[in-house]
Amino acid sequence: MARPGRKWMVVLMTLYGRNWITLFGGAMAWTSAMLIVGLAILVVLDVSSSPYIGILAFLVFPGVFVGGLLLIPIGALWERFRTGKKAATSELGPFPVLNLNDVHTRHVVVAVIVLTGFNLLILATVSYQGVVFTESPTFCGKVCHTVMEPEFTSYSDSPHSRVACVSCHIGPGAPWFVKSKLSGLGQVVAVCLDNYERPIPTPVTNLRPSRDTCEQCHWPERFAGDRIKVLTKYGEDEANTPSKTVLLMHVGGGHGGGKGIHSWHINPEKRTLYTPVDSQRKEIARVRVENAKGETLEAFSAPEGKYDAAKLDQSKERVMDCMDCHSRPTHIFRTPARALDEALAAGRLDATLPFIKKVGLEALTNAKGAEGDAERIAGHVREFYEKEKPDVLVQHRDQVDLAVKGLEAIYRRNVFPDMKVTWGTYTSNLGHEDSPGCFRCHNDEMISKDKKAIGQDCTICHNVLAWDEANPKILTELDIQ
Ligand code: HEC
Ligand code: HEC
Ligand code: HEC
Ligand code: HEC
Ligand code: HEC
Repeated sequence: MARPGRKWMVVLMTLYGRNWITLFGGAMAWTSAMLIVGLAILVVLDVSSSPYIGILAFLVFPGVFVGGLLLIPIGALWERFRTGKKAATSELGPFPVLNLNDVHTRHVVVAVIVLTGFNLLILATVSYQGVVFTESPTFCGKVCHTVMEPEFTSYSDSPHSRVACVSCHIGPGAPWFVKSKLSGLGQVVAVCLDNYERPIPTPVTNLRPSRDTCEQCHWPERFAGDRIKVLTKYGEDEANTPSKTVLLMHVGGGHGGGKGIHSWHINPEKRTLYTPVDSQRKEIARVRVENAKGETLEAFSAPEGKYDAAKLDQSKERVMDCMDCHSRPTHIFRTPARALDEALAAGRLDATLPFIKKVGLEALTNAKGAEGDAERIAGHVREFYEKEKPDVLVQHRDQVDLAVKGLEAIYRRNVFPDMKVTWGTYTSNLGHEDSPGCFRCHNDEMISKDKKAIGQDCTICHNVLAWDEANPKILTELDIQ
């Protein structure tokens, strides 16, 4: 009698070894299973942050694994078909005869059951991990590195850098999950064919309504009260003189009524609907307010004849939600002036370097995403000091070099030539300084039947407590530094 080890070898040979197709399938399945386990260990140990390990472990090798598994029965069927042709057809029925009293057959059946269980376990784990992986910011942001670079870079340095892309872009539930995977497939094809748009168009037309995304974390009942906002700006004089604007933002509460921005705009009893003129929703032709029952409470429209009424697509009417104001909650790109002010206030640029705001602004504004921008920024700054302030260059050369590095960092954070993203490509709708923002509707142009405009009184949104002042009294009173 054969030794038990040998006996099982014979069983495995029966399973895999009868023909080349089955043998090859078995080898494919086993090799990829080993590779999946090995790579999964690397992922768990966090050895590398490369997205490609995840792609191999959870998408590519599982495909090879399933392919291999499929080849095993295909080979067996082929074998049967071949031998069946040779033997008398009457001897072999359409299905194999399983005689479980035969020890060998019994062992083969046990082996099939155990191996299938093992395979199902691998498949279940890997497909679950595959889904988790395709939902991770690493997958969304880094796999198509160039395409997603502007969004991933801005995201990584934003209030939401610890919130997964899918929390805002997909949200919970099966229908949006399926929708997103299908549209993801389309995007992969577009990237492979290199026919995607640069820059990626905004707004995202099929973004899920914010009640299912933002409001999962920021539930409207929570918002309350006012918020002090201090903006520091620097002058273009030799001393880069700072000045401060202090706003008391009337953020307001959620569904409880009361005054304030959120009290009005995210109140289900007063839904705001609007019809944009352009695809970027920068110009608005009509605005309507309706209650929860869908009855129009107020309607405002642009003066007759300004827009061709026939061309205005009423089907484009959109219910305003968080994204219509917070259009840049995480992919925040700044103008050169604002980026400089923030860097100076945060100490990333040295505010004691004479004229740095002025020269920085000139250098950055001219660097719009052409070849050699970085050298031009450095050249402009050094040339300026050579000509206007040679003593600075002599005494503080290292300070100037650091400033050049700081300016290049601002440039790389906001301008992405490969995606044709430059200053002002993506602007925020929150406010009215860098883009029309709130004033797209809050203007005197759109009026109702009884000639009322949507309010533009400054104090409905904020009190301007100080405006470009060197030392606002209010900050001393409140003891805000
Ligand atoms: C806090 C929510 C949030 C998170 C997190 C988030 N996004 Fe976005 N994303 C948005 C919003 C809002 C828009 C623009 C919506 C609009 O104006 O239609 C947007 C727009 C985009 C666009 C379109 C181009 C653009 O800039 O308008 C891309 C591409 C994108 N996001 C990719 C990503 C990737 C990749 C991640 C993760 C690394 C991510 N997003 C994380 C909210 C988010
Ligand atoms: C998974 C949870 C989550 C989701 C989804 C989410 N946020 Fe946030 N949000 C946060 C966290 C956490 C912060 C940071 C709070 C802090 O820093 O105090 C934040 C901060 C903010 C802030 C304040 C930023 C600042 O400068 O202080 C705004 C505005 C905001 N989120 C808007 C949005 C919008 C709009 C969406 C939907 C597109 C959204 N959030 C989706 C968790 C989330
Ligand atoms: C009409 C425009 C508008 C809409 C719609 C809107 N917001 Fe705001 N939100 C603002 C403004 C303006 C501020 C104050 C910004 C500031 O202080 O810089 C603000 C502030 C916030 C803050 C920071 C609050 C704090 O106290 O720090 C969060 C979080 C926020 N909004 C989330 C949301 C979410 C979520 C939605 C959708 C349910 C939403 N907002 C809808 C305009 C809007
Ligand atoms: C419909 C609401 C609304 C109205 C009306 C409004 N503002 Fe504002 N304003 C905002 C918001 C929102 C911001 C952006 C705050 C932020 O940076 O988060 C802002 C920002 C500002 C700033 C700071 C600009 C900067 O440097 O970033 C000033 C100054 C200002 N407003 C002045 C005014 C004055 C003066 C009026 C009256 C003519 C006015 N606003 C009317 C909503 C409004
Ligand atoms: C799509 C058009 C639209 C946009 C964009 C918009 N609003 Fe409004 N807003 C309205 C309408 C309509 C009303 C109601 C006006 C009325 O009844 O007189 C309103 C009312 C308000 C009110 C309440 C006014 C009051 O009398 O109490 C506040 C506060 C407000 N908006 C803030 C903002 C802020 C801040 C922004 C920009 C971040 C903004 N809105 C952007 C359409 C808009």
